[in-house]
Amino acid sequence: MNRKNNDTLFTAFSETFPADSFLDSLSTGVIFTDCGGVLTFMNRKAEILLAVFKETVIGKRIDMLPLRTPIYKVMSEDCRDVPLEMNIGGRVLKLRSSEVLSAEKTLLGSIYELSDVTLERDEKRSREEFVAKMTHDLKSPLMVLQGYVQAIKLGMWGDIHPKLQKTLEDMERSGKSLYSMIEDLLDVYRLEMGLVQIKRLPCDLQALLETCCHDRQLEAEEQGVSLLLKVARKCQKVELDAKQFSRVFANIVGNAVKFSPRGSTVTVSAQIRKGNFHVSVKDSGIGIAEKDKALVFKKYFRTEQAAGFKGSGLGLALSKEIVEAHGGTIEVASIEGQGSVFTVIAPIKE
Ligand SMILES: Nc1ncnc2c1ncn2[C@@H]1O[C@H](COP(=O)(O)OP(=O)(O)OP(=O)(O)O)[C@@H](O)[C@H]1O
Ligand SMILES: [Mg+2]
Repeated sequence: MNRKNNDTLFTAFSETFPADSFLDSLSTGVIFTDCGGVLTFMNRKAEILLAVFKETVIGKRIDMLPLRTPIYKVMSEDCRDVPLEMNIGGRVLKLRSSEVLSAEKTLLGSIYELSDVTLERDEKRSREEFVAKMTHDLKSPLMVLQGYVQAIKLGMWGDIHPKLQKTLEDMERSGKSLYSMIEDLLDVYRLEMGLVQIKRLPCDLQALLETCCHDRQLEAEEQGVSLLLKVARKCQKVELDAKQFSRVFANIVGNAVKFSPRGSTVTVSAQIRKGNFHVSVKDSGIGIAEKDKALVFKKYFRTEQAAGFKGSGLGLALSKEIVEAHGGTIEVASIEGQGSVFTVIAPIKE
């Protein structure tokens, strides 16, 4: 390492890092430049990633580096504090630079961090391809089937017997529920694999909960269950992905209604506390045994008590992924045979 013209910078770094060998053992490439843009240090990993010997570039200003070489491409990119990905020699490199300040807060230079993310990118691409293929393979035949059912229902191949009409409606309903099960299943995978982009936008939490309760009203009436919504004032403005969150509320309210006895009440309440919104759904239904409380958030898990009720055990797994992707948590308190309270807590803003 050329230490002649970078004494200050070297002193600053040697205080933090005991020896060059320490930086050389990192799996991340590290490059330092001084205030004048002169390259003053490069570790072993950076040499490998950029296919360059440090002796040939140390002491040179960025604009003096040979054009079109990987080192020139990397150093001439503006990646200050915002990571950037670049294709270098068939590999994907993630690059980020930040200012280096002395203890007195004077600028000493810049540090560049380089990492090889080729494998992660390849894996992400194959996961995306897998989900896309699954989506196509599972949904397409079902849509064809649904199309035929509708065509028969509409009398496209002649009049149909009234009894058959009822059967066709049942087929259509089952098809729809299978379709939404496939959607949930694929969404759980997408969320688990980090393929879903959460879009947080300003949203009215009260309106979102009102819509959710409204959508569940018919189901509740059929079950003989009353749905009560209690929203504290100040609960309107939150930032979240409304489409994703409405699935969370639809599932926990739907579960509460589904597992409740006739004549009981399901209460949905919302309030804001210390920068978080809390939404609780309380029922007096079948409840959950202590041993099952953590398991209900796992894919496909259904308690023994839930046998005989409709469902595939995906709703809570999906809800947990969505809430956690917003930096929140979902908890359950329950007494078997007496009822449950599911509570979602998430930051009102990112
Ligand atoms: N409010 C509740 N009261 C009692 N048990 C519950 C309640 N909510 C969830 N559970 C238990 O947790 C299991 C998992 O819930 P989840 O919502 O994931 O699946 P599901 O409702 O059975 O099916 P899906 O949501 O996929 O239609 C349920 O099957 C049930 O055993
Ligand atoms: Mg459910």
